[in-house]
Amino acid sequence: MYTPSHNRYSSMKYNRCGKSGLKLPAVSLGLWHNFGSVDVFENGRQIIRRAFDRGITHFDLANNYGPEPGSAEANFGEILRKDFPGNLRDELVISTKAGYHMWPGPYGEWGSRKYLLSSLDQSLKRMGLKYVDIFYSHRPDPETPLEETMQALDTAVRSGRALYAGLSNYSAAESENAVQILKQLGTPCLIHQPKYSMFERWVENGLLDVLEKNGVGCIPFSPLAQGMLTNRYLKGIPEDSRAAKSHGFLQKNEITNDRLEQIKKLNDIAVKRNQSLAQMALAWILKDIRITTVLIGASSVKQLDDNLDCLNNTGFSTEELVTIDGILG
Ligand SMILES: NC(=O)c1ccc[n+]([C@@H]2O[C@H](COP(=O)([O-])OP(=O)(O)OC[C@H]3O[C@@H](n4cnc5c(N)ncnc54)[C@H](OP(=O)(O)O)[C@@H]3O)[C@@H](O)[C@H]2O)c1
Repeated sequence: MYTPSHNRYSSMKYNRCGKSGLKLPAVSLGLWHNFGSVDVFENGRQIIRRAFDRGITHFDLANNYGPEPGSAEANFGEILRKDFPGNLRDELVISTKAGYHMWPGPYGEWGSRKYLLSSLDQSLKRMGLKYVDIFYSHRPDPETPLEETMQALDTAVRSGRALYAGLSNYSAAESENAVQILKQLGTPCLIHQPKYSMFERWVENGLLDVLEKNGVGCIPFSPLAQGMLTNRYLKGIPEDSRAAKSHGFLQKNEITNDRLEQIKKLNDIAVKRNQSLAQMALAWILKDIRITTVLIGASSVKQLDDNLDCLNNTGFSTEELVTIDGILG
């Protein structure tokens, strides 16, 4: 029997999402890895409980998270039923997405109205929910008119299946267009979910400006570069790490000698700051006020706790920032 901590709102910071009425915790938890049918259910359950106990109210999913695809939503639904009954649903912000391949045939991926709305119905069924808080178009579709994809998000919201609409993996220019269409439809874009970390800085060249101008929040995913921006790979590739798992998205060949050199130098700075490399990498993203929340993953409660402690030291001196830029090149 799980009883949420009475202190769960005492140490988390909640940031307004763009110019919306919704606040999100500075750290959010994603269920891309570690929550599928190949993973240990009780481990995932403990991570979710701990996250909520420490003020994480926002959990991010997608139709295809697993493996197998859909199983992260099914497992999360089971955790909700077991541990978050009744009005606790109202303390949670749950998101899901559609865009990547989910089922065979021409209606099982990309951005058509047909795919997005049937996928959302499937997600709601798997999670046992009446609605999700945020429904995303997971990626832009070069073949479907942007209007159709945005109209599907608008319908998702108007029909009560979602409270807010979001975009993921859209470029700065695509985002500007999508945001304007959503505005005209009367369903403002709440949030954008891009890949952003010390190792992947494309959002700094235009996207963040578009979001700020339009009052849209930002939730960067893979802020730890899937674990590379932690102490995980400092001494080789551990057997239980994402890079070692056959279904993990981090490839061993991404951990090059040059990368390791950078990681070690960054780790030295983190040590001087009295924090772990993971904490420094998260704080580094959160320093920009245009960022609403960082979307982390964790394979253990220990990692989750480590990451959440990033909030204890989020300031950077100019000297530190210059040194970090020098290392990142
Ligand atoms: N919109 C999109 O297209 C998209 C794409 C990808 C992800 N996402 C979202 O973003 C979320 C986060 O992505 P991500 O899992 O790649 O994020 P991440 O935070 O960059 O990487 C998480 C992984 O890093 C390792 N790790 C985390 N904390 C650690 C610590 N303190 N010390 C050592 N290792 C640590 C763990 O890997 P080990 O397994 O090795 O322990 C963990 O699974 C996803 O769950 C998903 O919700 C969205």
